[in-house]
Formats: sequence, structure tokens, C-alpha cells
Amino acid sequence: MEKSKIKILITGGAGFIGSHVVRLFVNKYPEYEIFNLDLLTYAGNLENLRDIEHHENYHFLKVDINDGQAINDLFRKYKFDKVIHLAAESHVDRSITDPLAFVKTNVIGTMNLLNAAKDTWKDDYDNKLFYHISTDEVYGTLGETGLFTEETPYDPNSPYSASKASSDHFVRAYGETYDLPFIITNCSNNYGPNQFPEKLIPLCINNIIENKALPVYGDGKYTRDWLYVIDHAVAIDMAFHNGSNKETYNIGGLNEWQNIELIQLLCEVMDKKLDRSAGESAKLITYVKDRPGHDKRYAIDAGKMNKDLGWKPSVTFEEGLEETIDWYLDNEEWLKNVTSGRYQEYYDKQYS
Ligand code: NAD
Ligand code: TYD
Repeated sequence: MEKSKIKILITGGAGFIGSHVVRLFVNKYPEYEIFNLDLLTYAGNLENLRDIEHHENYHFLKVDINDGQAINDLFRKYKFDKVIHLAAESHVDRSITDPLAFVKTNVIGTMNLLNAAKDTWKDDYDNKLFYHISTDEVYGTLGETGLFTEETPYDPNSPYSASKASSDHFVRAYGETYDLPFIITNCSNNYGPNQFPEKLIPLCINNIIENKALPVYGDGKYTRDWLYVIDHAVAIDMAFHNGSNKETYNIGGLNEWQNIELIQLLCEVMDKKLDRSAGESAKLITYVKDRPGHDKRYAIDAGKMNKDLGWKPSVTFEEGLEETIDWYLDNEEWLKNVTSGRYQEYYDKQYS
């Protein structure tokens, strides 16, 4: 008899990072059945997965992780072996205007998945895994020096990071209390193809194309550690297959940029790509009101990922940024679709 395939539930697979993870797993592991569960909120987009949607080992489930009954029913029906949980509300600015939406999806939604996994697996945890994808923002903010390690105490400052911290705590608590097998990875800021243009890099790319102001919060000297999204997907693949049960791994780009310096570099590259004279895009830079509770600096010590799992980023920021810009310029239709209608409403409210 043919051995039944391992069934992997990937939540949030129609989003930015999730779509790269789904593509990698569907293409690399024909021996797995991949179930992409996504509600298709404003951030989810099946256009991200057109190239793999007809693969035999790919299935799409349009479900809300906040619907506990639906999640239980799915686990009962499909008996997933492993979960990679990415579905979340993911934008800090939106968490400031609607914090409760973040508690619902990021905390309650995660709880629904944890409960369903525990109840389905409780008699036999062998070869089961709840892999929770989290962020470095749970650690709060750094000063001028230092790096976040896996031992850095949680100290979240935004409703987004507080909701992600809470979900991390619940995953760990289910590991301690019910022995649920889990892995958590906390990653720094991602950039790359398919990112929704509410986040800094695609928002600026879109605004440069449209000759619109580039909104820089505060003094622009806030620092982020940027990682190319495909390098994150590769790290997730490694942690999923070779990570140790109940471990946390930090994933980062070893690539710190002050926002204003990053935007200046982006402007330079875009001027060349769009045949504009040098300095033209930079004229769009506009300092605007700061984000409340804005974390000064994030930076990751990814030494454990490197030492234990042999992972390191594969592209430089200059390479990754050029790939990203080329992708947005080549996918005008995608950008047009996601920036019409409700995006404009969000944009006007956020930046007016
Ligand atoms: P995203 O906003 O692009 O995608 C989120 C996906 O989740 C979307 O497809 C959306 O439709 C889906 N979703 C939202 N609510 C849902 C619900 N109730 N039920 C089912 N699906 C729902 O986010 P992203 O940037 O790809 O981030 C993915 C994960 O990685 C998140 O957990 C985020 O916290 C984490 N993360 C993101 C970054 C980053 O820089 N983007 C860095 C570290 C960690
Ligand atoms: P963002 O992409 O929202 O990611 P995060 O807040 O999760 O780090 O923002 C990255 C940095 O860019 C952050 O310091 C806030 C800043 N920023 C701006 O200056 N202007 C903007 O319009 C946005 C969206 C972000």
C-alpha cells in the first residue's frame, strides 16, 4: 500500500511571507500535501500563487482562524501532521488604529489552532509539530548597540508586537503544559516580491513610480534589520526540518539600515531604473508625524540559526533590493490591483 503523504497546514499562505513558504514547500516536497489556509483579508492574494495553484500536492482552504469550530472541523477532516502558522494581522500602524483586530486574529486565532492541534494529536505526538512564525518586535527596542538573542526578555511596545508576544507565550505554554511539540522563530523585517504596499519598502517603490510623497516618520533615524523574504523561507524550511523540539531561533538579515538611508538608496536605484535624473526621486522625501511608540532599533543575532542549522542570508541587501524593485516594475498589474479601492481609503486615513 502507498504510504500516505505527510499533511502540512500552512496558515496565511496567500500573504507575503506565506506565499514564498508555500511555493518553496510545494515545489521542493512533492511527497507532502500542502494545505494553504487563508481568509484572504486585504493582505491575502491568490495572485501570489498562480504558478503553483494547479500542483497536485497543493490545496487551498478559505477559512478564518478566528472560527474555532471551522478549525476543529478541518483538523478532524484532514488530520494534519504539522502546522506552519503565519496567518496574522501584521502591520504596526493598523494595530495602533484597531488593536482588538490584532488580539482576535493573532491571539485567539493562534489559540484556536493550538487547541485543534492538541486535541487531534494528544494521543500520539510522534512526528507532529506546531511551528509558529513570529517577529523580533516581541523583544521591544534596542538602543544604539546590542542585538536581540533568543534570551532577550520580551518587552513589546506596539499592539502588534504585544499580540505576537502573547501568541508566542501561548505556544510555549502549550509545549510546557500539554507537551505539544513546537518551534518558534522570531524574524527581523522582511522585504521582497509580493509584499503589500503598506510596509515601508513597497510603499516607497509604489510612491516613487506614482511621483507621490515618500512619508518618513519622525527624524528617519529609526533602524531595522532587513532580510530578503526568500532567505526567510529557506530558514523556515531548515528550522521546520532540522530544528529541535521546543526551541526558539532568531532569524535576521545582519543588515541594519536607518530608514532615511534606506529610502535614499531606494531613490537612487529607482532613478536609474525609471531613467530619471539623479536626485529626482529623493525630492519626494517628506518628513511626517512620527508613529506613536515607535521602536528605535531592531537587530538580530542569528548565531544560533547559523551554528545549529547552518543558515545564513544568501543575498546582499543591494542584490535583494534590486530584485525587489524589478519585481514591482515587472508586475504593474499586481500593484495596481492591490492599491485600488480600499487601499486608497487606508492610505488617506493614515497619511492625511
Ligand atoms: P501578511 O499581512 O502579508 O499576510 C498575512 C496573511 O494572513 C494574509 O494572507 C491574510 O489573508 C492572512 N490572514 C489574516 N487574518 C486571517 C485570519 N483571521 N484567518 C486566516 N487567514 C488570515 O503578513 P506577512 O508579512 O507575510 O507575515 C506573515 C507572518 O510572519 C506573520 O505572523 C507576521 O507576524 C510574521 N512576520 C512578519 C515579518 C515581516 O517583516 N513581514 C517579520 C517577522 C515575522
Ligand atoms: P514597516 O515596514 O511598517 O515595518 P515595522 O514597523 O514592522 O518595522 O516600517 C519600517 C520602518 O519604516 C519603521 O521604522 C517605520 C518606518 N516607516 C516610515 O517611516 N514611513 C512609512 O510610511 C512606513 C509604513 C514606515
